[in-house]
Amino acid sequence: MNSNDYFTDITVKSDKLFDYLFFLPKDNIPWIEHFGFDAFYLDPLWIQQDKALSIVNDLYPIKQIGLLKVNPNSVYDWHKDFYRLSSLNMLISYDHISHCLFGEHRSIEESIKPDGGAFMIDIVELKYKPATFYLFNTRKYHCVINFEQPRYMFSLYFNEEIEYNLLKQTLSPILPPILP
Ligand SMILES: [Fe+2]
Repeated sequence: MNSNDYFTDITVKSDKLFDYLFFLPKDNIPWIEHFGFDAFYLDPLWIQQDKALSIVNDLYPIKQIGLLKVNPNSVYDWHKDFYRLSSLNMLISYDHISHCLFGEHRSIEESIKPDGGAFMIDIVELKYKPATFYLFNTRKYHCVINFEQPRYMFSLYFNEEIEYNLLKQTLSPILPPILP
């Protein structure tokens, strides 16, 4: 598996938004349910105020930004987002262990389950770095495994849905150079 098919970091770091979300007291937030997550819509003014987000927005306009929460000792099960083609995510929680995995069923004969699926899944992990946004291919299978603390993540919707590989091309001015 080539991680670039699943996620890509952007080279411009978040400044004000990461700091705001990191220190935001999260206990009294009025969370709403959003595809199994607890979600909180953020003020769109942050799009202009954060250095990285404002550059992303200039290259490909953003519709809505929010904070997502996964409760402690939970797994957000393997899925593809049926409601969006791609996203831009940033992890806020660094006080405990959580994993974001992308996976592909291994298609060897021995691993086929009676229902036709495969027992074994090849995985690649998105190891989030602080204050770093990642283009996220939501149309590939992914899951989240979260341990003993709430896990907070920034995410967004673009004005118009865009397929991950097209998003990579559109945001190429702020992506790492492709190694030969
Ligand atoms: Fe998802």
